[in-house]
Amino acid sequence: MRRAVITGGARGLGAAAAERLTADGLDVITVDVAGAADHLLDVTDDDAVAALADRVGPVDVLVNSAGVVGPNVPLVETTSQQWRDVLDVNVVGTVAMMRAFIPGMVAGGWGRVVNLASMAGKDGNPNLSIYSASKAAVIGLTKSAGKELATTGVLVNAIAPAVIATPMNATTAPDVLAHITSLIPMKRVGTAQEVAELIAWLCSERVSFSTGAVYDISGGRATY
Ligand SMILES: NC(=O)c1ccc[n+]([C@@H]2O[C@H](COP(=O)([O-])OP(=O)(O)OC[C@H]3O[C@@H](n4cnc5c(N)ncnc54)[C@H](O)[C@@H]3O)[C@@H](O)[C@H]2O)c1
Repeated sequence: MRRAVITGGARGLGAAAAERLTADGLDVITVDVAGAADHLLDVTDDDAVAALADRVGPVDVLVNSAGVVGPNVPLVETTSQQWRDVLDVNVVGTVAMMRAFIPGMVAGGWGRVVNLASMAGKDGNPNLSIYSASKAAVIGLTKSAGKELATTGVLVNAIAPAVIATPMNATTAPDVLAHITSLIPMKRVGTAQEVAELIAWLCSERVSFSTGAVYDISGGRATY
């Protein structure tokens, strides 16, 4: 039975992915800083991430869904501390999990990593500069890791959702949310189950010739 670790697995897209991968027959281990997860852990805590990898052992699949939006303000009003806090979770935390679990996948000759980027990382959302930059970084690091691991059997891909109905959007300012929803050609937000479907494919043998790629799931919103 394939084993999967999902960060941010207590709710939202991580929880939907956990449900979907479990239905697909994987043994799923959820990790979250809060809520009902198998392991309570902050992905920004390198020692805790290393200890988790020791406890859990090798896995076949890693989904990095833990993430925070950060402040909804113009770039010039952001503080350096706010930048550090958001980049620490969305970028450094994602890398910590990859560092902890990819070597076991390489040793086993098979693995799938899915990183949750965002349309914000490709297009840049106004008043969400920190979040947008953090997701652009997730795209960049996914492309690098995909190339580094291309001959190992470990595929590393990212997805770029537009607005999806999850608790995360409760913390997004209503005017910012209305703007980014209006940019979706299908004129609706996505569901967590629609995103889980794409994640499930990217975690399976059904994907075999894609790595370092970024998949839009955005109701038609895309810029490149
Ligand atoms: N919902 C959307 O519209 C949307 C769109 C594009 C991208 N995304 C990305 O998808 C991912 C999941 O988003 P979501 O909508 O499910 O958000 P969410 O807020 O509903 O869930 C995120 C989960 O991550 C956990 N988390 C936050 N910081 C953590 C930390 N330091 N360590 C461990 N866990 C931590 C939270 O406790 C929460 O359970 C995020 O990376 C987000 O940026 C979401």
